Amino acid sequence: MKVTVVGAGAVGATCADNIARKELCEELVLLDIKEGLAEGKAIDMMQTATLLGFDTKVTGSTNDYTKTAGSNVVVITSGIPRKPGMTREELIGINAGIVKGVTQNILKHSPDAIIIVISNPMDTMTYLALQSSGLPKNRIIGMGGILDSSRFKYYLSTVIGCTANDLQGVVIGGHGDTTMIPLARLATYQGTPVSNYLNAEKLQKVVADTMVGGATLTGLLGTSAWYAPGAAGAALVESIIRDEKKLFPCCVSLDGEYGQKDICLGVPVIIGKNGWEKIIDYKLNDEEQAAFNKSADAVRSMNGVLSTLTI
Ligand code: 2OP
Repeated sequence: MKVTVVGAGAVGATCADNIARKELCEELVLLDIKEGLAEGKAIDMMQTATLLGFDTKVTGSTNDYTKTAGSNVVVITSGIPRKPGMTREELIGINAGIVKGVTQNILKHSPDAIIIVISNPMDTMTYLALQSSGLPKNRIIGMGGILDSSRFKYYLSTVIGCTANDLQGVVIGGHGDTTMIPLARLATYQGTPVSNYLNAEKLQKVVADTMVGGATLTGLLGTSAWYAPGAAGAALVESIIRDEKKLFPCCVSLDGEYGQKDICLGVPVIIGKNGWEKIIDYKLNDEEQAAFNKSADAVRSMNGVLSTLTI
């Protein structure tokens, strides 16, 4: 198996590091436009191989896509990250051109690859990758809901006082501060509703904290987060490569599911060797469906910006 991670910044390098540590593939290529960056990070990672005990061969490349040829899975993290006070949506002007170019270059050398999009604004970048590549919809997966769900469980665990690993919680909708929908009603602590352990006010605060989870970290770090986004990307790669059929909320192309079409938006999907294989219907109540429709409206208007850009 061969995996490429495009973008050797903090998210891309962390994602690659997780993939190598888990030995998800024999060959892992890290690619970046900045001269020497991907090569340097790849060598640094390879010098952890004997310390961590992995055999994945990691190589770096400065923008030479021939090195990525034959990749089974490609993770796109390229583009600029947000700075404190910025929304993910403000990145569209710069990142759209980058993501479109990267997708086309990747497919020249890896026509059968499954593509995971992490670049922001992620829902619109996933839609752009799908439209500009013409790939079957199952091979384009946006990484957002899996990260937001992990943040949701983290915040729940701190309030309930339990390990996050005993919690189930899913965030659907867009990957934006106002578009994501933590499904509080369906969150459980070992099978029991989390509402048994915290009052409505506390639960509402957990939901609000989750929605600005990325922005909170951007404020603290001065740039966007990388450990959880990188690990979330690697978890998707793992479910594809090992055909785990895990259920993750991901941004995928909808064709009537959840009442939406001609849009890529976060819903629960099964991830396996064919990419996203099936959408699971959570049977939203009226309030959740209304929030999902509102999220779709916001993402659709951001997708509309694509046609105003020269890319
Ligand atoms: C985040 O939420 C990078 O969008 C990503 O941290």
